[in-house]
Amino acid sequence: MTREQALKLLHDNMKNQNLRRHCYAVEAVMGALYRRIEDHHQTRQEEEKWRIAGLLHDADYELTKDNAKSEHTKHVLKWLKAMDAEPDIFDAVAAHAWGYVDFAPEPKTKIEWALYTCDELTGLIVAVALVKPDKKLASVTLDSIMKKWNSPSFAAGVNRKQIEECEPRLGTPLKEFVGIALFAMQGISGELGL
Ligand SMILES: [Fe+2]
Ligand SMILES: [Fe+2]
Repeated sequence: MTREQALKLLHDNMKNQNLRRHCYAVEAVMGALYRRIEDHHQTRQEEEKWRIAGLLHDADYELTKDNAKSEHTKHVLKWLKAMDAEPDIFDAVAAHAWGYVDFAPEPKTKIEWALYTCDELTGLIVAVALVKPDKKLASVTLDSIMKKWNSPSFAAGVNRKQIEECEPRLGTPLKEFVGIALFAMQGISGELGL
């Protein structure tokens, strides 16, 4: 599956700009995580898989938002199958909803854990940007995120436990993980409208 096909699939099925931006953010962070985590055997095609998994993980979100617990990922997985997407992409999309969707499997591989953990983190970073006076990612520092991290009432819906899995599962300390994600999102701030 190419990035172009993936983007078309996303746009055909997701019209809300904010939802799309969440997908772009997760795509960018997945690319950066791939380069950090798989630093010994990187290939362009492998990085592309990580990015596409990020881009498409919520592609059926609009379609399933009223019954997410029983439906989310069901449709996107069907589309991926029909398009003959790589198994790694399929499995990562399936496992990102672990704990939220009744039938979602526990993540196992690096790409699956990366998607599961960074999905939640991008939401926290957006929330920190939105309380800055200029609402810009450029104004967000790693320390400002870590401060908010330690204040559980801030963006209380963000599951910090889920993000903390980066350390045991991906061998990346939390602060470094957050820094990678912040830098990746700042790199596409225009697309994110932040
Ligand atoms: Fe999701
Ligand atoms: Fe998501």
